[in-house]
Amino acid sequence: MTQRTLVLLKPDAVRRGLVGQVLSRFEAKGLTIVALEHRTIDGEMADRHYAEHVERDFYPPLRAFATSGPLVALVLEGDEAIEVVRGLNGATDGRKAAPGTIRGDLSLSNRENLVHASDSPESAAREIALWFPALG
Ligand SMILES: Nc1ncnc2c1ncn2[C@@H]1O[C@H](COP(=O)(O)OP(=O)(O)O)[C@@H](O)[C@H]1O
Ligand SMILES: [Mg+2]
Repeated sequence: MTQRTLVLLKPDAVRRGLVGQVLSRFEAKGLTIVALEHRTIDGEMADRHYAEHVERDFYPPLRAFATSGPLVALVLEGDEAIEVVRGLNGATDGRKAAPGTIRGDLSLSNRENLVHASDSPESAAREIALWFPALG
């Protein structure tokens, strides 16, 4: 089934000059970019995006990281895109993510792990409406 998913290339991806490389992986897989924006978010937007995590111990430094510089937000579309993109990204902790995944190949951190992707159809709908209201 064709799906859309919300992806962030987090501030570490922009700082490290990995935007092109990471986008290339999504494009090479056959996913279509249907929206894309370079943007710096404030704490309020971070709180909305990470609503499920705001009470967690790891949230304050995550909030600081998410607002630390520009990121690239995009919507990808393709067959089973939600699960496919989660698979391309790899496990949350870059130190444990499998080689061949974006995080496994390019991140050595469980916070600065380069990418975000929606984890379910419900999350994708909520996140796409949040980041790209015109598509929501
Ligand atoms: N234990 C942790 N320590 C530091 N940062 C974390 C930790 N767990 C998660 N994070 C950060 O919070 C983000 C959101 O967490 P989560 O939704 O669990 O992972 P994912 O991004 O793989 O869906 C992660 O991508 C990572 O940047
Ligand atoms: Mg998540």
